[in-house]
Amino acid sequence: MRKVYLDNGSTSFPKAPGTGEAMSDFMTNVGCNVSRGGYQSAYAMGEVVYETRERFAKLFNFPQPGKVVFTPGITYSLNYVIQGLLRPGDHLIISAMEHNAVSRPAYKLKEHGVEVTVCPCDKEGYLDLDAFEKAIKKNTRLAVINHASNVAGTLQDAEAIGRICMHHGVYFALDTAQSAGTVPIDFQKMHLDALCVTGHKGLLGPQGIGALMMTDAFAQELQPVILGGTGSVSHLQTMPDFLPDKFEAGTMNLPGIVGMHKALEFILEKTPEKIGAQELDRAMRFIDGLKEIPQAHVIGPQGREGRTAVVSVDFDEIDNAEMSSILDSEFGIMTRCALHCAPLAHKTLGTFPEGTVRFAFGYWTTEEEVDYALNAIRSVYAE
Ligand SMILES: Cc1ncc(COP(=O)(O)O)c(C=O)c1O
Repeated sequence: MRKVYLDNGSTSFPKAPGTGEAMSDFMTNVGCNVSRGGYQSAYAMGEVVYETRERFAKLFNFPQPGKVVFTPGITYSLNYVIQGLLRPGDHLIISAMEHNAVSRPAYKLKEHGVEVTVCPCDKEGYLDLDAFEKAIKKNTRLAVINHASNVAGTLQDAEAIGRICMHHGVYFALDTAQSAGTVPIDFQKMHLDALCVTGHKGLLGPQGIGALMMTDAFAQELQPVILGGTGSVSHLQTMPDFLPDKFEAGTMNLPGIVGMHKALEFILEKTPEKIGAQELDRAMRFIDGLKEIPQAHVIGPQGREGRTAVVSVDFDEIDNAEMSSILDSEFGIMTRCALHCAPLAHKTLGTFPEGTVRFAFGYWTTEEEVDYALNAIRSVYAE
């Protein structure tokens, strides 16, 4: 049976050309650790590591490449930010579209005396900017906002949110899990204090590697959540106070960094604008095709503006989980069903607790694959 991968919201596949090969070459042929070895291959790898930081910085217009922090993924980046900054009595604002990677640490802190406001979003998932500004209080320290929804593709106006945060002196952290690589992101223009990134989705890199970029002021106030060896100032019992070492305890994920090095080269060459536009072409072809299937309802934004290529569908007459399962077993189409780790978003969109079937189109999805998926859905109803 043919296979059609439409689960790029979970992780992109295939990855950027050469990514797997570069990782395999490193694993097979290079023996070294960075900042912990005084020999040539360790120095050479140190250059690859630095170049990867530079590529992240270039992609996001982050002004200090040497201060790009590697993390094991965006869940870690977000936890470093939320748990490392907030103390009892502080106030945190999140949106009603957050992934559990944000809402779970937020709710945990709530049990320890941090105030949490979940700012409402409309039926398509767009943040209510007035309500957001009104939610800011004297003790509001941080706002963490999902840039693009992993459920409905809703894309927030990060620049407008950043302006409000800057005006009120509130730190602003952006979850770019579903936007990095497909939407232009500008650290400075969006007035970000913390940019949280994962490598394995739109950036077409491997799993297990992410990044965190911060302003100096924010990084100074942030306490590291994970402590350990850094290969620097080893005589001290405290973590280094400089970046990136302050937040990079333990051996680096070098295979992941080597993979990211390659994947970022591809993203920088193609550009997020072009990648995102192509993915949106596929998503809109799908959404337009679904208009002729009355039992299929697209959840969230219906048009091309203000969205990414993640499309959630609620099906009539058949359970969503069953539809997802039939698409896989009878047509080889891979989707994801249920809550997508984002119960808050489903509550906002009116699809809690059943969830939706998510079709997440990627850079490699062809028009023909979109038509194949539409025909498969039609056949299910024709049965
Ligand atoms: C919006 C959003 N935030 C955070 C995450 C967590 O990403 P990771 O599993 O790469 O840490 C995801 C993953 O699906 C996501 O979609």
